[in-house]
Amino acid sequence: MNGKIEIGPIWPLPDEAATAALAMRVATLLDDGLVFYLHGPLGAGKTSFARALLTALGVGERVKSPTYSLMEGYMARERPAWHLDLYRIADPGELEWLGLDALTDPGALVLVEWPERGAGALPAADLELRLDYAGEGRQAQLRAFTPRGDRLLRQLS
Ligand SMILES: Nc1ncnc2c1ncn2[C@@H]1O[C@H](COP(=O)(O)OP(=O)(O)OP(=O)(O)O)[C@@H](O)[C@H]1O
Ligand SMILES: [Mg+2]
Repeated sequence: MNGKIEIGPIWPLPDEAATAALAMRVATLLDDGLVFYLHGPLGAGKTSFARALLTALGVGERVKSPTYSLMEGYMARERPAWHLDLYRIADPGELEWLGLDALTDPGALVLVEWPERGAGALPAADLELRLDYAGEGRQAQLRAFTPRGDRLLRQLS
């Protein structure tokens, strides 16, 4: 895709079930590792999306928000899966102790809320979800930055 960024359509998400349904569709298409940045204002549904995605991938335990732990690790379909929330990070240098090397495993699923706060310390995104408020609900838009992100985006759209 020659470094081109591919942008998907705006996806209306009128309620939390719609956010979960989008995550479940992503889960059915996911057949490789993926670095997935989740953008959006406070309360936009980033954790809801991540929880639905991990659960759809077979994570049996409760997926809690990593607001305080910063990073939670799971096994999802026999692959490592990481869920980060960097809201509380003021400087990417604070992330050194977290062991972010694990995130560079190409087979891993990496979901990051507030990725801008970890700029430079995170692997580059394959795919990015932007969630926004839309009336009582939300809307979403996906952007792909790599061939594997693009493949998923095309299959979804
Ligand atoms: N599509 C939707 N429509 C309406 N409400 C939603 C939707 N998706 C999620 N919500 C609700 O929004 C609230 C906040 O969701 P969530 O915690 O997932 O947001 P977040 O983006 O992770 O926030 P934070 O930035 O604080 O981590 C929850 O009560 C959830 O049920
Ligand atoms: Mg959250």
